[in-house]
Amino acid sequence: MKISSSKFIISKPHWKDCPTPNIPEYAFIGRSNVGKSSLINTLCGNKTLAKTSSTPGKTQLINHFLINKKWYLCDLPGYGYAKVSKKSREEWSKMIKGYILNRKNLMNTFVLIDSRIKPQQIDIDFMIFLGENGIPFSIIFTKSDKLKQKELNSNIKTYENELYKYWEELPPYFVTSSHKKTGKESVLKYIERINPLFDKHI
Ligand code: GTP
Ligand code: MG
Repeated sequence: MKISSSKFIISKPHWKDCPTPNIPEYAFIGRSNVGKSSLINTLCGNKTLAKTSSTPGKTQLINHFLINKKWYLCDLPGYGYAKVSKKSREEWSKMIKGYILNRKNLMNTFVLIDSRIKPQQIDIDFMIFLGENGIPFSIIFTKSDKLKQKELNSNIKTYENELYKYWEELPPYFVTSSHKKTGKESVLKYIERINPLFDKHI
């Protein structure tokens, strides 16, 4: 799929204030700094669409982008940033879980995982939350440019083995690099395949 237009629509702290859920939507979630906003920019071929930063905690609200005038990408604040107070963590949880559980047009949630690091319980717990609530999700291994192919394959294998402890069947996964612009086509193809299912989903 070719992205011919991408436009920032709105940033909101509450799902009730997000755009009318009348077209398909895809959310990007994961630990702070994993590369959610960068990947959105890479997918859209627009370096300044979503705000990125080398300091974790850049994205603070629920951000909506309208793509090809037909579907939404949603950039969410990350979890697991150590310097965050208990109160902020609770607010994050309320905001994100409220969004995920109530957003009727959410077709798929992409859970981003840093391909360099070993499986983290916080990510597994988040996927368990999605699974328990019947929220469709897939995994994106990010920052693959930082690893040699062999290390990358080995880390993905380790991750798969960890997930098999919890699930019999694994969700689809993608491998991307926003710096090298790889993996973009597979993610877009996946979205293109799911978009027509919107009428049945809603
Ligand atoms: P929060 O909004 O804070 O939750 O972070 P985020 O997940 O949106 O991460 P963001 O896209 O802002 O990127 C965080 C840092 O990782 C930035 O310094 C990016 O340049 C870097 N980064 C993102 N994607 C990649 C990638 O594919 N490869 C490499 N090498 N660095 C990346
Ligand atoms: Mg961000």
